[in-house]
Amino acid sequence: MAVTHSVHGMWSTRLAFILAATGSAVGLGNIWRFPYTAGEYGGGAFVLVYLLCVAGIGIPIMMAEIMLGRRGRQSPINTMRMLAQQEGKSHLWSLLGWMGIIAGFLILSFYSVIAGWTMAYVFRAASGTFTGIDGAAADELFKGFVGDPERLLAWHTIFMVLAVLVVARGVASGLERAVRFLMPALFVLLIIMVIYAAQAGDFDAGLRYLFEPDFSKFKDHAGEAILSAMGQAFFSLSLGMGAIMIYGSYLHRESSIAQNTVIIAGLDTLVAILAGLAIFPIVFAHGLEPGSGPGLIFQTLPIAFGEMPFGSLFGALFFVLLVFAAWTSGISLLEPITAWLVENRSLSRVRASILSGVTVWLLGIACLLSLNVWSDVTMLSLIQAIPGLGALDFWSRLTFLDKGFLDFFDFVTANVMLPLGGLLIAVFAGWALSRSSSVDELDMGEGLGYRLWHFLIRYLAPLAVLLVFLKAVGALQWIGLE
Ligand code: PFF
Repeated sequence: MAVTHSVHGMWSTRLAFILAATGSAVGLGNIWRFPYTAGEYGGGAFVLVYLLCVAGIGIPIMMAEIMLGRRGRQSPINTMRMLAQQEGKSHLWSLLGWMGIIAGFLILSFYSVIAGWTMAYVFRAASGTFTGIDGAAADELFKGFVGDPERLLAWHTIFMVLAVLVVARGVASGLERAVRFLMPALFVLLIIMVIYAAQAGDFDAGLRYLFEPDFSKFKDHAGEAILSAMGQAFFSLSLGMGAIMIYGSYLHRESSIAQNTVIIAGLDTLVAILAGLAIFPIVFAHGLEPGSGPGLIFQTLPIAFGEMPFGSLFGALFFVLLVFAAWTSGISLLEPITAWLVENRSLSRVRASILSGVTVWLLGIACLLSLNVWSDVTMLSLIQAIPGLGALDFWSRLTFLDKGFLDFFDFVTANVMLPLGGLLIAVFAGWALSRSSSVDELDMGEGLGYRLWHFLIRYLAPLAVLLVFLKAVGALQWIGLE
């Protein structure tokens, strides 16, 4: 018999769940990461692959995560252990939960640093710093800021305190209240930004850049580009690490998982596209470089705010809402770890959230130092410093190791850990879990909808993730498929 309630509490309504899960999905991933990653891989072709990944891989895996969460009603580690036991499968499935916990720590550690940037930009916008600013000045302002570890540390600390505060208060009184108002407000403001970009920016160029796939640029490094598009889909939808799973565990039984998923994924995608439409027209109108990397929105949006009427107000508001979007996502990154500590270490919720928050905070310090003081420290240099092992020529061939902490954590979580987590979730939901269990939990009958999901989760999603991995490591060439 399925468990009906979680010890950690429950969402009061279906809307609360949708808002919270959308709050988790919509965040820096949409507004900061999506535009700059699309920019790095040439725009339209990346966006197309991204959309295919959301539809074919993201949606079925999100349904699976919510389904497993609701069936287990515990932290991802314990949920996986319990469900595996119920289905007579290996207890090693709980390792999936462990990988999710590690991914959560790593993601939040750099996420909090970037969220800190957005907080600092609230004050810069409000104080009129952007008035009349041009591309070069915006760039300089940004570089000056990330070059200052003390300021980064202060904002990172503030963000982590905010995240811990909500998680410590629990599901209903902390989370629900925050997202109800913030999500609609963010949406309205983004639309204002798009309207502004349509009038003041080069909207045509922006549209073409986002929606006219140009595979010629993509081709040179297609494996990496496709991997990044898939990683972006996992990151943006909060999949593969248990965040959506734990939110599913607080969802009442009567609510339709399929419908909720389509709404959440739809809103998330819409916000990403709107962010692209707000940013690229400005990039092109000012002759900026779309592939300029993680600083993109911090180098472009200030120009727009500096020019528009009431720009200080709109600018401040925009960054405030971005802080909130990051906040509602940050909370969901901390929740699975906290729930596990409560369940297994008998800690109170307050202590558990502080303990996980402090761990993330420490890791975050390495991330923010990698932007300045430790800018020469890469994973490769650390490995090469290991006596004996580090001397192997092999390491320098792994180009992804040539990154500092922040970039490496970002890369390895989005492009490796989340897709791998998603792959295992798909295999568990499609193969280890009996058909009768998934039919029962999804509660949508056994018609076309269920059969389509079952096909996607058993075959398409796992195979697609696997192929993208293989392609990215160039393995298809070794086995003669290319
Ligand atoms: N989906 C969030 C964003 O797009 O900003 C980031 C995120 C939250 C990733 C929660 C993973 C996660 F579990």
